[in-house]
Amino acid sequence: MKRKKVAVLGSTGSIGRQTLDVISAFRDDFEVIGLAAGNNIQLLTEQIKEFQPRFISVKDAFLAQELKALLKNPSVEIFWNDIGLEFISSCSCDIVVNGLVGSVGLKPTISALSHGKRVAFANKETLVIAGGLIQDLIKKHKGEIIPLDSEHAAIHQCINGISKDKVRKVILTASGGPFRTWTADEIKNATKEQALKHPTWVMGPKITIDSATLMNKGLEIIEAMHLFDFSCNLINVFIHPQSIMHSAVEFIDGNIIAQLGATDMKLPIQYSLFYPEKRQLPFNLFCDLLSVQKLEFEKPDYKKFPCLKLAYEVAEKGESYPVVLNASNEIAVDLFLKGKISFGDIEKIISKSLDAHSPTEPKSLEEILSIDSEVRKKTIEVFDTSAI
Ligand SMILES: NC(=O)c1ccc[n+]([C@@H]2O[C@H](COP(=O)([O-])OP(=O)(O)OC[C@H]3O[C@@H](n4cnc5c(N)ncnc54)[C@H](OP(=O)(O)O)[C@@H]3O)[C@@H](O)[C@H]2O)c1
Repeated sequence: MKRKKVAVLGSTGSIGRQTLDVISAFRDDFEVIGLAAGNNIQLLTEQIKEFQPRFISVKDAFLAQELKALLKNPSVEIFWNDIGLEFISSCSCDIVVNGLVGSVGLKPTISALSHGKRVAFANKETLVIAGGLIQDLIKKHKGEIIPLDSEHAAIHQCINGISKDKVRKVILTASGGPFRTWTADEIKNATKEQALKHPTWVMGPKITIDSATLMNKGLEIIEAMHLFDFSCNLINVFIHPQSIMHSAVEFIDGNIIAQLGATDMKLPIQYSLFYPEKRQLPFNLFCDLLSVQKLEFEKPDYKKFPCLKLAYEVAEKGESYPVVLNASNEIAVDLFLKGKISFGDIEKIISKSLDAHSPTEPKSLEEILSIDSEVRKKTIEVFDTSAI
């Protein structure tokens, strides 16, 4: 049987590393043809030795030189920046795994879909800022996105081809993050160490902070709207601290179909790589419901998690607001991770950016990128003038 050629974008990150773990367990099914990373060329060097891809991309030309020196007489072709990411996404591969974090994932997604590829997709920020554009590309070039985010992989399995007019309600679950039981005032002053301690998932730093503010769930609402063509009032967020039910769909006949499984991203990664085939799980990750014992559900508290409310409002308003939400959130999370603002300031910065925005209806990639860079510039100015 011919092995499927896979390109992994963000191979040094949490999703990228786990994707390579899954591929390692299925060497007869997959061949790694391209790897793309940002700064971590030490780990990338090890991955190149192990998987022997043909194409590599790193963040910039300086890192490309450093990598070349580390590899000594490399037989791989090394590229860098957006051009490298776009090349790897359109190379002779069958599947592109997009495990990049933030809007840097947009151009390679466009490149992969413009070449009619299957994209196993984790990079939610791309769908938040350019969902309409991405859907148009899928229709035009017959590419496809298979969700890899656990909640969206769950919804994909629950819907399983049933037409969307039969859907009454979508239940998007959230663990509630590390501050579920804290008061609103305690949360505002949470430290970076406290915010990075997620109770159920081990993930990269940006999504871990987004999970603590519940912005992650807000971004996922918009992601689900684009992936499944749902309106936002169909999507309900339930806090589910056990993180065993990854999401559910209620249909018009009153039946609710839910997807349950272990809290481990290797499951949705395997699902997206093999879809629609089902394969024996090669890891000891079967979920023992008897040991879980109870599944709890709560309504989210907007006073504690104002970022979720902001995201709902943005999902409803549409236009260019999702671009503003995403860009200002990326800047605010970065400032928090660098110790420059408090946890409570994240929401204040995003609110200010949204309030200051005059919406438009961006139709092209250029318009989206122009709004994105303008918002980033203005958000940093707000921080620099201490006007938060
Ligand atoms: N982690 C999870 O369990 C999980 C679950 C569901 C969805 N997601 C989504 O998956 C995406 C990735 O999350 P993650 O947790 O895996 O993030 P992460 O651990 O921070 O990894 C991000 C990856 O992107 C690379 N990268 C960052 N900036 C880059 C740039 N300018 N050029 C090239 N590469 C760049 C990083 O490279 P270096 O490290 O080499 O700099 C790294 O390989 C996010 O959109 C997240 O919301 C993640």
